[in-house]
Amino acid sequence: VTIPQPGETVTLIDPVEEMEDEYRTFLDEFIAAGEEGLLHHLTDDTDQLRNTIRRLKNRAAGFDLPEGWVPCSAFWLVSDVHGLLGEIHIRHRLTPALEDCGGHIGYMMRPSRRRHGYGTAMLALGLEKSRAHGLTRVLVTCDAGNVASARVIEKNAGRLASQSQNWGGRMTLRYWIDLA
Ligand SMILES: CC(C)(COP(=O)(O)OP(=O)(O)OC[C@H]1O[C@@H](n2cnc3c(N)ncnc32)[C@H](O)[C@@H]1OP(=O)(O)O)[C@@H](O)C(=O)NCCC(=O)NCCS
Repeated sequence: VTIPQPGETVTLIDPVEEMEDEYRTFLDEFIAAGEEGLLHHLTDDTDQLRNTIRRLKNRAAGFDLPEGWVPCSAFWLVSDVHGLLGEIHIRHRLTPALEDCGGHIGYMMRPSRRRHGYGTAMLALGLEKSRAHGLTRVLVTCDAGNVASARVIEKNAGRLASQSQNWGGRMTLRYWIDLA
């Protein structure tokens, strides 16, 4: 995928320890934006990247999962021009709770790089990973007020299946994306 500049290539990679410093500035941007709630896969904000990576690998393999969690793979979106841009998580299957709210895929773009088309590209690449994993369709959900995420899903051929109130009282949009 080449987007948004001619000649710029973005790819999904497995998180790597060598990018610790860059990862730290990436996390700091979310914290500065008051979005630390998105970093719930970390134990705390001093978590060493190698610990995070070990935990992510365990989770992908189905070990040490918190109660009620399913195996989940995490990838970084990196650009050969701008470096680390975003993170995407792909759950290998749904539970009744995820079917209701959460779905298969979660993602976040670093605040300074939003609105350049990277979020759309990240989900497109995440769908390829999901297909490679054997999924034939994925559920992606977002809050009704999350216009950016809803657009990202719609631009990736998401079909709105339902809108319903989630356990927090907010409206959730549920989209299916066919991968066949
Ligand atoms: C959702 C998110 C990943 C989108 O990333 P992004 O890189 O900004 O997305 P894109 O640049 O590909 O934008 C996709 C579309 O959304 C629109 N959009 C993006 N941000 C928007 C905003 N704040 N308000 C309105 N529209 C917005 C873009 O204009 C574009 O639509 P268009 O092509 O019709 O113009 C990013 O906003 C984010 O990380 N948000 C916080 C985490 C989050 O909400 N994750 C999803 C949980 S379900």
